[in-house]
Amino acid sequence: MAESEIERIYRLREELHTHNYNYYVLNAPVISDMEFDRLMRELQDLEAKHPEVADMNSPTMRVGSDISNDFVQVEHKYPMLSLGNTYSEEEVTEFYERVRKSLNEDFEICCEMKFDGTSISLTYENGKLVRAVTRGDGVKGDDVTNNVKTIRTIPLVLKGDNYPQNFEIRGEILMPWDVFEALNREREAREEPLFANPRNAASGTLKQQNSSVVASRKLDAYLYYLLGDNLPCDGHYENLQEARKWGFKISDATRKVKTLQEVFDFIKYWDTERKNLPVATDGIVLKVNSLRQQKSLGYTAKSPRWAIAYKFQAEKALTKLQKVTYQVGRTGAITPVANLDPVQLSGTVVKRASLHNADIIAGLDLHEGDMVYVEKGGEIIPKITGVDVSSRIPGSKPVEFITHCPECGEPLTRFEDEAAHYCTNEDSCPPQIKGKIEHFISRKAMNIEGLGPETVDLFYQEGMIKNAADLYELREQDIARLERFGEKSAQNIMAGLEASRQVGFERVLFALGIRFVGETVAKKLARSLKNIDALMSATEEELVAIDEIGEKIAESIIHFFSSEKNRKLVERLKQAGLKMEMAPEEVSAASNVLEGQSIVISGVFAVHSRDEYKELIEKHGGKNVGSISKKTSFILAGENMGPSKLEKAKTLGIKIMNETEFLSLIENAAKSEEKVDLPVETPAAETPEETPKKANPNIQLELF
Ligand code: IVH
Repeated sequence: MAESEIERIYRLREELHTHNYNYYVLNAPVISDMEFDRLMRELQDLEAKHPEVADMNSPTMRVGSDISNDFVQVEHKYPMLSLGNTYSEEEVTEFYERVRKSLNEDFEICCEMKFDGTSISLTYENGKLVRAVTRGDGVKGDDVTNNVKTIRTIPLVLKGDNYPQNFEIRGEILMPWDVFEALNREREAREEPLFANPRNAASGTLKQQNSSVVASRKLDAYLYYLLGDNLPCDGHYENLQEARKWGFKISDATRKVKTLQEVFDFIKYWDTERKNLPVATDGIVLKVNSLRQQKSLGYTAKSPRWAIAYKFQAEKALTKLQKVTYQVGRTGAITPVANLDPVQLSGTVVKRASLHNADIIAGLDLHEGDMVYVEKGGEIIPKITGVDVSSRIPGSKPVEFITHCPECGEPLTRFEDEAAHYCTNEDSCPPQIKGKIEHFISRKAMNIEGLGPETVDLFYQEGMIKNAADLYELREQDIARLERFGEKSAQNIMAGLEASRQVGFERVLFALGIRFVGETVAKKLARSLKNIDALMSATEEELVAIDEIGEKIAESIIHFFSSEKNRKLVERLKQAGLKMEMAPEEVSAASNVLEGQSIVISGVFAVHSRDEYKELIEKHGGKNVGSISKKTSFILAGENMGPSKLEKAKTLGIKIMNETEFLSLIENAAKSEEKVDLPVETPAAETPEETPKKANPNIQLELF
């Protein structure tokens, strides 16, 4: 008899769950990708036709949606504890001995990889995933179920029939190395900040508001800890093997051992072998296997007495220094770069490493052709930590720092108290000219759509621009006649330039690229002095009187405006219509009207952007929080507030305030504070990201 559409839906769901498992968990697909996609589309079509049989755990839920997630805080049934850490074999021995003495009977140890991602707790009821919660503070975390459903290695519906009716399983969500690298490459091209490591990328992704973005990021998950009243076995290892049969991805590396020697063998093996794993690991976890014994060992305040983490030493690689090259940043700072024979390090191929400055090179006593040790710390950029002097070629020459700019030939200068060498030929050294314009158009500065480093390079080569002000004198027809450019892209650039005339003074000031005037400093200056004329005529005393402005920054500002060329540049930018003063509403005084209030921002706004509202909230003493909870004071709601947020606000009885109400609230508050003549404070200090001594991290990132 012919199958009904409803029957077909059920069968397709079952089949697709199995194919998903075969493909993602076992890495052993039995049908082609095309066939898989065809079945998925068939199911999507049928489900659209039959909403009466909708299922939150259907395989079609894996694609995510554009509906904005709000993350409700959920209390963990069992707190999520951390593990005691050790870096030494002695401490592993001490752990083993402690356990032995305390138990006074035979015991087994389950050895596992310590995955370096973000931890997750999954709750299953009757074989279905019902909730996924992040670690949060260990007591409560964020409900990220919608996002987690897009992770293909996490089963939505379990296989088999011997799983407990209710249980939790915990594990690590990871971004595989190859996905991480591809993502960072894309972000670099879009001038978005890079993720420092796959762990940050995974946790950042998991907190995405939009689950279809999560679906596109190809996260993976390994599970390593079961909790519940009716687990099948007393052995942790045995329970994990059962969980594997239910469809979970359990690491193949997991082993059960008896002796300390076997523990050390495991550690030794994986210390090197982990480099071949597709995901990041940072150690080994040792767990007493029997749940009964775990219970008898118990917990300290923070971590179990039955488990310990042994962390690997930061990974090092030995490779040959080919040559040292030098990069010139927009400020003229010279960064030496070690070009290396390509070498595998923590899952990526390293070809270059920053040498930072001449002192570092001298400190390493680096010679040409040396074999060098490269390490990757928490950062993306690897560094050279040492030289293998024993393999040095006799007679090789020490690396000497260059004396002249590699781009324009200008003799280099080293300022007092500074580690870097500089090329001071700012007016005609090409990377400095282009670098300044690139900074000017960058996302956090003027954010000019349609322009990027390549376009800047081309316009510069063509003699069309030499500084930022020249951009505003470009003509559409001049751009359109260039090869690679059509009318459409010329129009886009013109529109991008036009739109940048609306960018606020704070960002215009940042865009000027004055040394040591980063985003935060630019904000402080703009809010305090209100316009460019006041800044240009400010004395050093006036400048250092501003919160967080020190001598070094003050000197740099004065130096910048003492140059005729810079003053002319500002004048031309002013003529071009850029904002050179704070708008009246930006100047409006701060108040304490929102003190102690937690405010959720939701929806689309007409007057200000969400970021601007966040700033306004902070300026008036409030705190912007991401998700609605009982503690939320009110919701600042724009158009199209997400239906689930609206629903939740209603349930919890939380006030919803629209844009106009909010703006009049803070305006009135600011006015009344002015009347009583309260000192007008600059907003609470943000983390100062710009300290003169530190190299600008952006400059370094440009390198790689
Ligand atoms: S067991 C009570 N096993 O390490 C013990 N944790 O510092 C629960 N982690 O937050 C954790 N790999 O995110 C366990 N095989 C593993 C692990 C592991 C990574 C992480 C986890 C946890 C942290 C503990």
